[in-house]
Amino acid sequence: MSTLELTYTLDEIDTVAKTILDHLYSKIVRFNGAMGVGKTALIKALLKVLKTEDRVTSPTFSIVNEYSIPNDKAYHFDFYRINSIEEAYNFGIEDYFNSECWIFMEWAERVEALLPEEYQTIDIAVVDDKTRTLKLNINKQYLTNYNAMAEPKF
Ligand SMILES: Nc1ncnc2c1ncn2[C@@H]1O[C@H](COP(=O)(O)OP(=O)(O)OP(=O)(O)O)[C@@H](O)[C@H]1O
Ligand SMILES: [Mg+2]
Repeated sequence: MSTLELTYTLDEIDTVAKTILDHLYSKIVRFNGAMGVGKTALIKALLKVLKTEDRVTSPTFSIVNEYSIPNDKAYHFDFYRINSIEEAYNFGIEDYFNSECWIFMEWAERVEALLPEEYQTIDIAVVDDKTRTLKLNINKQYLTNYNAMAEPKF
């Protein structure tokens, strides 16, 4: 088990997103952190590095936003407004998890019981107005990594 720790301002967020993608072994990523800490901002940067041409917005009201990326798709969830496991289940959450597309999740604690076995977690905390710090837990041995997963090239 090892932890990648990065401290960054908004100016540096694209570089941070690249570094994260270099270290991921799972395409399912959970973002933990308080309201307004910068989960959506970081996911936006990740989607930019993944080369989406779609406009990225917060899925606060829609629960999920879908983005096209070259030869793939990404689903960005904000489960904040999900009030029960049943609601998430009826929403078809399992199909998304089984899709093999990128999954970025905010407020995953709302659907804890439905989460798949394999995912990675990024914990974000506020340092000051402009600065955030994140930890990426690598909770199992690398079997593969992002570069081996194919596409896209930066
Ligand atoms: N280093 C930074 N990284 C990310 N956001 C930052 C940073 N510095 C300042 N901010 C500001 O913090 C806010 C982060 O908002 P964002 O919507 O990304 O939070 P969130 O964690 O998704 O919140 P919510 O739980 O409500 O969805 C933005 O206003 C952004 O400009
Ligand atoms: Mg958000």
